[in-house]
Amino acid sequence: MTKTRWTTAELAGERILDAGCGMGRFTEVCCDSGAEVHAVDLSNAVEVAAQNLRDRKRAHFYQADIFRLPFADESFDRVFSIGVLHHTPDTRGAFHRLVRLVRPGGRIAIWVYSTKLRAMLGSELLRPVTSRLPRALMLQAAKLAIPLYYVHRFPLIGRVTSVLLPTSLEANPTWRWLDTFDWYTPRYQWKHSDDEVVGWFEEAGLVDIRVGEFPVSVSGQKPPRPS
Ligand SMILES: C[S@@+](CC[C@H](N)C(=O)[O-])C[C@H]1O[C@@H](n2cnc3c(N)ncnc32)[C@H](O)[C@@H]1O
Repeated sequence: MTKTRWTTAELAGERILDAGCGMGRFTEVCCDSGAEVHAVDLSNAVEVAAQNLRDRKRAHFYQADIFRLPFADESFDRVFSIGVLHHTPDTRGAFHRLVRLVRPGGRIAIWVYSTKLRAMLGSELLRPVTSRLPRALMLQAAKLAIPLYYVHRFPLIGRVTSVLLPTSLEANPTWRWLDTFDWYTPRYQWKHSDDEVVGWFEEAGLVDIRVGEFPVSVSGQKPPRPS
């Protein structure tokens, strides 16, 4: 998975938490790599995930809040959270909740929005309005992302349109639509720098901290228990 930089081979047989699974796209990758995956989400997207992956016996779904998860501390080999923590009231606090769930020697990886995204002026201006509009209306409006993908990729014109009305550039049209919906509707959308996020990993006592190429993606390991 690009944002965690974990290879599918190293996931086989691991007990993994997908914190904020949405409709389960990364849950699916982990399951198909041979992991036992526990996937949680605050919203009823988790029901869609459970339905989508109903034939995956190693996938387990829960509708739950990252701040109140029904799992024991140190009970996972790996925990990941992709595109979620910046939508909670407290990104750093949510991260520290997740670190508690990682076993000694286990790994955690997160991807949160970067401060670099503030350059997308259009959405900075529109979000105060779009995050208050009815969800059903926004779900339809977000479909604009499907054709806008081609406009945004035009030389010169695309540079302007992607600043004025940014939408997802996911190659898959359905993910492009849903990612754009996820961009314009959430109440919270914090943005963080690499240094800030690395600082959270350091203060949690994690080691082998790696910053990925896709900002801001950071992974680390909980030090193994001394033998
Ligand atoms: C942008 S989506 C990402 C979903 C998935 N990780 C993916 O990349 O496809 C963000 C998800 O975070 C979930 N979320 C937001 N706050 C949460 C919280 N406090 N606890 C659990 N899930 C949360 C939302 O319901 C939403 O499904």
